[in-house]
Amino acid sequence: MRLQKYMAKCGVASRRKSEEIISKGLVKVNGKIVSELGTKIDPDRDTVMVDGKIIKLESRKQYIMLNKPIGYVTTLKDEKDRKIVTDLIEGVRERIYPVGRLDIDTTGLLILTNDGEITFKLTHPSNQVPKRYIATVEGTPTRYELERFESGLIIDGKKTSKANVKILRRYEDESILDIIICEGRNRQVKKMCERINHPVKKLKRISIGEIELGGLQLGNWRYLNDEEIKYLKSL
Ligand code: URA
Repeated sequence: MRLQKYMAKCGVASRRKSEEIISKGLVKVNGKIVSELGTKIDPDRDTVMVDGKIIKLESRKQYIMLNKPIGYVTTLKDEKDRKIVTDLIEGVRERIYPVGRLDIDTTGLLILTNDGEITFKLTHPSNQVPKRYIATVEGTPTRYELERFESGLIIDGKKTSKANVKILRRYEDESILDIIICEGRNRQVKKMCERINHPVKKLKRISIGEIELGGLQLGNWRYLNDEEIKYLKSL
């Protein structure tokens, strides 16, 4: 890329103005002053300094939702060499990462982004963004057990905050529950269900705040739309 174009893309100044800055000898490439116009640089390898400050291309913010399948981990590297969720996302140049986590055997909504502010807003405990899950559990919880679930249970020595739970369907030996929690502790839904003696057999996340998985197929991903991005920024 021509140096003046690179400078313009980095937001230093217009191309014309950048040419002037180069001619004045204010630009260094890899530590050496370059005053010749038309010099080419490699944005991935060369270090460009303008008036003593390194300039960089701002990477575009990307916001993606994935319907995570079983068998994928939500970390970016795995010591055990298991599959990672970003393997499922092709064609995105920016380095995106999952917001929060889902267990390897949990399916459903996962947001991925390279926007650190959104990650912070969604995961910070003070924000209490509601997350909704559909859980298949062993047996059928009694009304008393559901009340305990909703009013708070001690897990890992700390009481959970208020939650919502509804029985969607009852079968002979299992039930489908609709669960909303506003925290994001490690394996929280599983631990809460375990605590009321109805261990989780299957777990799927269907929404995070106003962001809904909808009809996105398992293993597929899509970019969030403007309205969804606006919502995340408003948190
Ligand atoms: N709660 C869990 O127990 N597991 C998940 O993956 C998400 C929430």
